[in-house]
Amino acid sequence: MATKFRSILITGASSGIGAALARHYAAKDITLFLTGRDQTRLDAVKAACEERGAAVFAATADVTDKEAMDRLISAWDAGIPIDLVIANAGLSQKGEESRESVEKIIAVNLGGVINTIYPLIPAMKKRGCGQIAVLSSLAGFRGMPTAVSYSAAKNAVRALGDALRPTLKSYGIGVNVICPGFIKTPLTDVNPFPMPFLMSAEKAAAIIARAIEKNKKRLLFPLPMAISAWLLASLPVWLTDPLITKMAHKKRKMPS
Ligand SMILES: NC(=O)c1ccc[n+]([C@@H]2O[C@H](COP(=O)([O-])OP(=O)(O)OC[C@H]3O[C@@H](n4cnc5c(N)ncnc54)[C@H](OP(=O)(O)O)[C@@H]3O)[C@@H](O)[C@H]2O)c1
Repeated sequence: MATKFRSILITGASSGIGAALARHYAAKDITLFLTGRDQTRLDAVKAACEERGAAVFAATADVTDKEAMDRLISAWDAGIPIDLVIANAGLSQKGEESRESVEKIIAVNLGGVINTIYPLIPAMKKRGCGQIAVLSSLAGFRGMPTAVSYSAAKNAVRALGDALRPTLKSYGIGVNVICPGFIKTPLTDVNPFPMPFLMSAEKAAAIIARAIEKNKKRLLFPLPMAISAWLLASLPVWLTDPLITKMAHKKRKMPS
């Protein structure tokens, strides 16, 4: 798909949705700035994107490292102004959650988004243009007992994007909140429960890129999962708490 964006930063590009987005955008005349932590997987994505004609800058960086993210993103943006940033890096907690694991997931999934987009906001404001896409999740519409920190972080990411959008619009900057259902990636491969409407990362990347191209405020997909998430969030908690508890109990009983 042809895109209006010329320079695109994607975090979490070494795997899953981020890697699929990088490959989706890779083409002649496109500059990609890719980050991840695993050098080998990041290099493989870089090579695949270069094969498609893109100019690629790739660097390993932990999104929780505020100073390192500031330095890296500011240097990249000073060289070639970034048109689109996709704050995609994220992880989920498997099994029981401890205070430490909750803090870690919030630091990566929420703090990482902040550390990715804030270094670019002043420069985009000055240029009077730019687009910011943040990866939330349908799991963020309602606190889930089986994903305490994940649902809390994704809920906050959605609120962050929605809160920034009106103000940034007046500077010519678009904000897109992306809320996928289950996508087949290493993050979900370990889930021991059935995942309705599971979708490939390639298909998800194409859907996400189309929404970003249209500067859609929010993208919720696939539709049946979006309706379930919306219902869970909209119905009173006295009704949804027992339902969610039952679901959580069922999930625990599934073999891993
Ligand atoms: N898969 C789904 O069903 C689904 C649904 C809704 C939302 N999402 C969201 O979509 C995003 C991508 O998920 P995915 O499914 O593609 O997962 P994935 O395949 O596990 O990829 C996650 C990516 O994030 C990077 N990452 C994790 N922690 C990081 C850190 N501290 N610093 C820098 N990079 C870090 C990983 O880098 P390394 O591998 O190099 O460490 C990897 O590139 C996440 O934000 C996730 O929450 C996924």
